Amino acid sequence: MSQHYQHDVLVIGSGAAGLTLALTLPEHLRIAVLSKGNLANGSTYWAQGGVAAVLDDTDTVDSHVEDTLNAGAGLCREDSVRFTVEHSREAIQWLIDQGVPFTRDDQTAHEDGGFEFHLTREGGHSHRRIIHAADATGAAIFKTLLEQARLRTNIELLEQRVAVDLITERKLDLAGERCLGAYVLNRASGEVDTYGARFVILATGGAAKVYLYTSNPDGACGDGIAMAWRAGCRVGNLEFNQFHPTCLYHPQAKSFLVTEALRGEGALLKLPNGERFMQRFDERAELAPRDIVARAIDHEMKRLGVDCVYLDISHKPADFIKTHFPTVYERCLDFGIDITREPIPVVPAAHYTCGGVVVDQSGHTDVPGLYAIGETSFTGLHGANRMASNSLLECFVYARSAAADIMQKLNQVSAPANLPTWDASQVTDSDEDVIIAHNWDELRRFMWDYVGIVRTNKRLQRAEHRVRLLLDEIDEFYSNYKVSRDLIELRNLAQVAELMIRSAMERKESRGLHYTLDYPEMLPEAKDTILRPPIYGD
Ligand code: FUM
Repeated sequence: MSQHYQHDVLVIGSGAAGLTLALTLPEHLRIAVLSKGNLANGSTYWAQGGVAAVLDDTDTVDSHVEDTLNAGAGLCREDSVRFTVEHSREAIQWLIDQGVPFTRDDQTAHEDGGFEFHLTREGGHSHRRIIHAADATGAAIFKTLLEQARLRTNIELLEQRVAVDLITERKLDLAGERCLGAYVLNRASGEVDTYGARFVILATGGAAKVYLYTSNPDGACGDGIAMAWRAGCRVGNLEFNQFHPTCLYHPQAKSFLVTEALRGEGALLKLPNGERFMQRFDERAELAPRDIVARAIDHEMKRLGVDCVYLDISHKPADFIKTHFPTVYERCLDFGIDITREPIPVVPAAHYTCGGVVVDQSGHTDVPGLYAIGETSFTGLHGANRMASNSLLECFVYARSAAADIMQKLNQVSAPANLPTWDASQVTDSDEDVIIAHNWDELRRFMWDYVGIVRTNKRLQRAEHRVRLLLDEIDEFYSNYKVSRDLIELRNLAQVAELMIRSAMERKESRGLHYTLDYPEMLPEAKDTILRPPIYGD
């Protein structure tokens, strides 16, 4: 039988943003953190590079701001960038206080006998400013935050819970606009439960799974973006999908990411004949921002008709490589590639969703009581191209500001009463799950072919036509059959794909990550692409 639950704060998503928010809130609040699989299944766990922050005395807020604005190709919101960077040091200090084991730099001893943290460099950054835990920063952060959350009796960590949709006053035909909770599939019982909450947080990550090849784990389906859209929130800049330039090219590797920090420490990109090529595309060569590097690789692969290019760090001492990049070293060795002696075959793959649910500096969406933080959100920080390692920083800064905002509002918001139970009276068990699997494949393939690194009007039109057919089919399936994780994710992914295609069609220029052969130039004025859901009546 389906259950009703009541919390002060419902956090949908258990990655860096969701856990930070839960841990920042006071202990008298009852908080539920939902994960649709196991707690560690999100993108945070897989982040290798690190967190960009102004930590070194030779670095400045202005410099970090300037680099971010440059990478964002004129589309970052300067106030959001400054807000994020100005709060970077305190966010890192909070992580250190939680116990995150960042890599220390044993070269530079402190006067007091302690050690500085090691800072690495990544594309677009003019300083070494990436604090990291070797090349497994996300895992180190996630494990530490999870350990802390497990110590807190007010935080319930719930696995195998898939949010289906948000419950809002508007949907219940009540006066007002507030978000009141969510319907959530419990995968163990197969029932859809009702979660009421005073505040609801979307921390569900991005939507890179919309593409056939991605560095992301399986859950990156844009769930929060689709749910927010259906609840009446605007979304912004969804045409900007970042392709990470260097994912391991190997039939069994499932797009394993080879961190950009390798290039930061001197790795070189080479063609199959051993020739370097990045200097032909940008004076920063291997350290150009990701859009430039990914497009250069795509160009060279197409020009030469080759399946991959190569990333070579074998000129560095083997000990240095093994100490700084143990994860990449081990993983490549699993596939018979010794990176201390030979180059790594690499290709670009979908990596990060720069747009998302429109929010302000406290993470408020357009629906009162509903917040979006981390990759789900669109804060204006990333503009047309996210700079490496700014995303984890955004998670911490905005999770902490959303938590501060909730604390201020606690006395004004009471618990929602009498939420209706999920109605499953009209649906039956599906006997054709093959349709779901087939639609998944079709969606991801045409998004890769038509809405990828290089776009054209014609390709986008083809994608639009196909996504509309899929949406109709999925809607019909959703109305007639019991929900499953696969169906919920497909419904969300198809919705986000449609928004991405529409956003790409609205942009009649090439800027940052959006490159189209039909409009190869950048327009003089930089404008966000903001889509408004149909409830606005326009
Ligand atoms: O290359 C990387 O380690 C990825 C970093 C990021 O996406 O910020």
